[in-house]
Amino acid sequence: MSTTNSTYNFGMIGLGTMGRNLLLNMADHGFSVTGHDKSEKMLQLLEEEGKAHNLKGFAKVEEFVNSLTSPKTIILLVPAGKIVDDVINEITPLLNEGDIIIDSGNSYYADTTRRSKELAEKGFRFFGMGISGGEEGARFGPSLMPGGEKTAYPVIKDVLEAVAAKVNGEPCVAYIGPGASGHFVKMTHNGIEYAIMQLLAETYDILKNGLGYSNTQIQQVFEKWNNGRLKSFLMEITKDVFLFKDEKTGNLLVDEIKDQAKSKGTGKWTSQIAMDVEVPLNTIDASVAARNLSKLKDLRVELESAFGKAGKIENVSDFEAQLEEAFFFSMVSAYAQGMHLLWKASKEYNYDLNMAEIAKIWRGGCIIRAEFLQDMYEAYQKDPNLEHLYQDAAIQQKIQTGLKHTRSVITASITAGIAVPCYAAAITYFDTLKTGRMPSNLTQAQRDYFGAHTFERIDSEGVFHAEWNKLS
Ligand code: 6PG
Repeated sequence: MSTTNSTYNFGMIGLGTMGRNLLLNMADHGFSVTGHDKSEKMLQLLEEEGKAHNLKGFAKVEEFVNSLTSPKTIILLVPAGKIVDDVINEITPLLNEGDIIIDSGNSYYADTTRRSKELAEKGFRFFGMGISGGEEGARFGPSLMPGGEKTAYPVIKDVLEAVAAKVNGEPCVAYIGPGASGHFVKMTHNGIEYAIMQLLAETYDILKNGLGYSNTQIQQVFEKWNNGRLKSFLMEITKDVFLFKDEKTGNLLVDEIKDQAKSKGTGKWTSQIAMDVEVPLNTIDASVAARNLSKLKDLRVELESAFGKAGKIENVSDFEAQLEEAFFFSMVSAYAQGMHLLWKASKEYNYDLNMAEIAKIWRGGCIIRAEFLQDMYEAYQKDPNLEHLYQDAAIQQKIQTGLKHTRSVITASITAGIAVPCYAAAITYFDTLKTGRMPSNLTQAQRDYFGAHTFERIDSEGVFHAEWNKLS
């Protein structure tokens, strides 16, 4: 492919909201960029929104590719799945060896692994880059998780660092690792995101139905918490939800929304993969299941009339402060589980992840950014090989302090019949993980009894079998 008239350093394919905003962000930082989309409307929008930069896009892919300087660096922001393969197949015949393709959608990590191999064989340098922060993040500073061909990172480092969110002047981007590591880390980010969102929903339920709080009172609780150690992006937007009026009815919009949560799949993938690599993610799994439970509306309504609604929470003195402790404890479990999955995946898939860097780049720009990320960053800085966050002395001290109250608010909610799947999973996960001897010896005995699957003994090496049905 000829490179005559090449002008632009970076190109974007897919000029939907995310693609346009990221491109505008790059242009704001002085990078020479252009875009391609098959939709005339998207090209027009780019021209309108990018007036200040005289940003023009190309409708024809050949012209777009031809307008890029070498090595041609193309970011894809198209929906995950087949479209990514279609776009790659369309552009690769127009590219030269060493050119760089960056898939920035929420692609399934196994697809990214496959694409990395296929493209490497053809001599292209491929990246799977997680982007978090939504529309606003893409425009003014996302958290970026690029993983892929390391030799290409110096080419894209400056632009990524320029557009990324900054915390204490440090960019929320770092080279994550080879292959699909960037998409794996983004997927895990979303698993944590699901868990924290579900914990906020359960907290809302406890306050509204368990304690009878009004929306205004709930807003005030979240606002107060957001001024303390629970300060986070999700807490901040959640408090705002309780202020937003519906134009149609004049009521708060939150009360007019159906209680059925949708999902695009990244949370489910996190749970599925964690099962594959045998890392327990109880809190995250519970949040994925909660979205599925929410879809069973008819069944839930039928069973509510059969068994009755949840009751009120009794003995509520100082409950709000105790609930804050339970939220902190359970939130920590979500981050700890996600990081434990990354720790295992790093070994399993040779990602060689830098856990401290991951915590660091999640401190800003992304959906799970939170005050707590600084604590997490410090824990992994102290010990980069930490298997589990609960092993860190400072974290241990923080979760120990509120443990008694955490147990009592979760117990009170369960006693009232309020569903708290994530809170319950968080405490159960913790209790199991701190149990030196679990009852799994019985499971082994049962397996050996009905299937001769053998067991191991505590007093000697090797595997054993017993004739269980010949009871002495
Ligand atoms: C982000 C978000 C983003 C997206 C989720 C929504 O980090 O910016 O996670 O990627 O909003 O994919 O996921 P669900 O549709 O599955 O809730």
